[in-house]
Amino acid sequence: MAEHPAYPVGLRLTGRRVVVLGGGQVAQRRLPALLAAGADIRLVSPDATPSVEAMADAGEITWERRPYEEGDLADAWYALIATSDTAANAAASAEAERHRVWCVRSDDADRATAWTPATGHSEGVTVAVLTTDARGRDPRHTAAIRDAVVEGLRDGTLVAPHHRTRTAGVALVGGGPGDPDLITVRGRRLLAEADVVIADRLGPRDLLAELPPHVEVIDAAKIPYGRFMAQEAINNALIEHAEQGKAVVRLKGGDPFVFGRGMEEAQALAEAGIPCTVVPGISSSISVPGAAGIPVTHRGVAHEFTVVSGHVAPDDERSLVDWPSLAKLTGTLVILMGVDKIGKIAEALVAHGRSPETPVALVQEGTTAAQRRVDATLGTVAETVVAQEVKPPAVIVVGEVVGVGPHGTA
Ligand SMILES: C[S@@+](CC[C@H](N)C(=O)[O-])C[C@H]1O[C@@H](n2cnc3c(N)ncnc32)[C@H](O)[C@@H]1O
Repeated sequence: MAEHPAYPVGLRLTGRRVVVLGGGQVAQRRLPALLAAGADIRLVSPDATPSVEAMADAGEITWERRPYEEGDLADAWYALIATSDTAANAAASAEAERHRVWCVRSDDADRATAWTPATGHSEGVTVAVLTTDARGRDPRHTAAIRDAVVEGLRDGTLVAPHHRTRTAGVALVGGGPGDPDLITVRGRRLLAEADVVIADRLGPRDLLAELPPHVEVIDAAKIPYGRFMAQEAINNALIEHAEQGKAVVRLKGGDPFVFGRGMEEAQALAEAGIPCTVVPGISSSISVPGAAGIPVTHRGVAHEFTVVSGHVAPDDERSLVDWPSLAKLTGTLVILMGVDKIGKIAEALVAHGRSPETPVALVQEGTTAAQRRVDATLGTVAETVVAQEVKPPAVIVVGEVVGVGPHGTA
């Protein structure tokens, strides 16, 4: 059987009976793809891993709690034989052969009538890699080829142009907090397909260096209190480039809708009749504390966290933040854009009831090579920021969670 290469094919299993023998790790790994294919799955096994059991409990598969019996494969279109009993596997595969049911065997690829390829997905395509010869099987190698192809398609190093007409428009992409590995797969793919990228100062700027030379990169840096491209100019640039039929990515730091003015851009595009897609990103409000060893919640310590903007001081009439109420909360307070006003913010929190001993951490340039954490308390933070020369961008965390991680000093 192994003298010829396997014939690759895609099975359309929707509503069709698939019998899985054995509820161990192999079944656990294979069941999600069978479920995604819509198969009608019957598991026959005396026991199962907790994850497989959960699928049965949820009604995703039917589970007969017993060993394999002759006749189990009679109405199957496809079978996965993966028990720990070699004799049962052999008997089941003999039955499969008699009923002409294609079957994979976890214990003996040579005797199986089908092999499971290493699979991955990219842009509506399934990439499946099969070994040509059971004896020379090297599952790690096939998985590595699959990974190389899928990753290459995702990051654009492997170019497979679409032959259907590409719809021009704008993608508002949340780029994450700065580490280029912390953008989503979708965001990275859209970036690889872009003609124009309009990028913020915050976010994964290293990714811009990877873009091919034909991609126009526009800097939309909005440094706090600086004199940079106004929001309206950014909106206009997005609209102009999209109207020229270009694929535009608006690369933003963190998540587009967390103090990111993402909806203003989406509204402007909607008014101009430009298609817009929004790709969420990992917000610095959670990831930057995490990168510095601070969980925003912790069992028995904080059951809530509140993210606030500190770009205007509590006594500023433009402030929409109810600082007196925030001071009464016992959970975690995460302050973005608050370095310049932290003195006044700490003062307001203490004046309205929060203890001056409350731990505070400032995490500057989180998830980048320049990441730095400075610890203080509400009582000392104003002078610490000056003494330690803490600069934006920084996420400020107020609360007992600051002290729970291994780096905590509180
Ligand atoms: C205009 S807000 C944008 C927030 C962004 N949309 C998000 O979800 O992370 C900018 C603020 O986010 C915080 N910030 C963003 N990236 C950061 C990073 N890598 N390290 C520390 N703070 C960061 C800082 O407080 C900064 O002033």
